[in-house]
Amino acid sequence: MTEARRTENLGRELVANASHELRTPLAVIASSAETLMASPDSPARDRREFLEIIARQADRLERLVSDTLHLSQLDSSMPHEALQKMPLQDVVNDVMTALKPAAQQREIRLLNEMGTEDARTEIYPSALRQAVSNLVDNAIRYTQAGGTVAVSIETGDDMTILVRDTGPGIQPADHKRIFERFVRGPQRAAEDVEGSGMGLAIVKRVAEVHGGRIEVESTPEKGSCFKLILPRKAPPDTL
Ligand SMILES: Nc1ncnc2c1ncn2[C@@H]1O[C@H](COP(=O)(O)OP(=O)(O)OP(=O)(O)O)[C@@H](O)[C@H]1O
Ligand SMILES: [Mg+2]
Repeated sequence: MTEARRTENLGRELVANASHELRTPLAVIASSAETLMASPDSPARDRREFLEIIARQADRLERLVSDTLHLSQLDSSMPHEALQKMPLQDVVNDVMTALKPAAQQREIRLLNEMGTEDARTEIYPSALRQAVSNLVDNAIRYTQAGGTVAVSIETGDDMTILVRDTGPGIQPADHKRIFERFVRGPQRAAEDVEGSGMGLAIVKRVAEVHGGRIEVESTPEKGSCFKLILPRKAPPDTL
């Protein structure tokens, strides 16, 4: 298949999936708004409940639309930013700072286990920040309170960012599937874990535009370790 055809197919699939995913939150927003309009004299508490539902679903829509845009950009071209040579520690530190409050709120210990080894390499900084953020965000959300999330870097022929957690783990049968678009696993059943299954698809695509890859190792009930592997050499010009 030619590159152009492949991208076109990916685009079609993305639009079809995204449209499907948009329907549920839109239907919920429409019916909540109708309920509010049909009973203008209902108690403030009831009205508030419907407004909260609308706000939550609107947030979900916003995230879905921005994830979809982001993925279609990554599919069709290189990221809209220049390659920069910088230490991977900088990227990880930014993410850890941003997600610290979320970890605290969920009573997760967030450990920085990076060393000071030379981990400078050519990267697309915002794309990589987004990918690491998606991994750490998952680790925090899917790990039960009291658990630990640790981030480290290994350097060798490649450079690897490792995100380890003490969460529920992932069944071997799901190791491949979870990186597909819109695929969510059983863990999302946990009451407050909302999402659309785009996080890991973005991580996979970001790894690819760097000429790298993503791997997962996991022992169900014990935890997971996601490895974002980047080559030392600069990413290829064309993908
Ligand atoms: N650290 C983890 N521990 C256990 N399960 C995980 C972990 N990370 C991902 N998963 C499983 O993989 C599925 C896909 O993850 P992904 O990040 O792509 O989507 P999501 O988190 O469900 O939604 P989104 O990231 O779009 O908010 C999740 O629904 C979850 O079941
Ligand atoms: Mg996620």
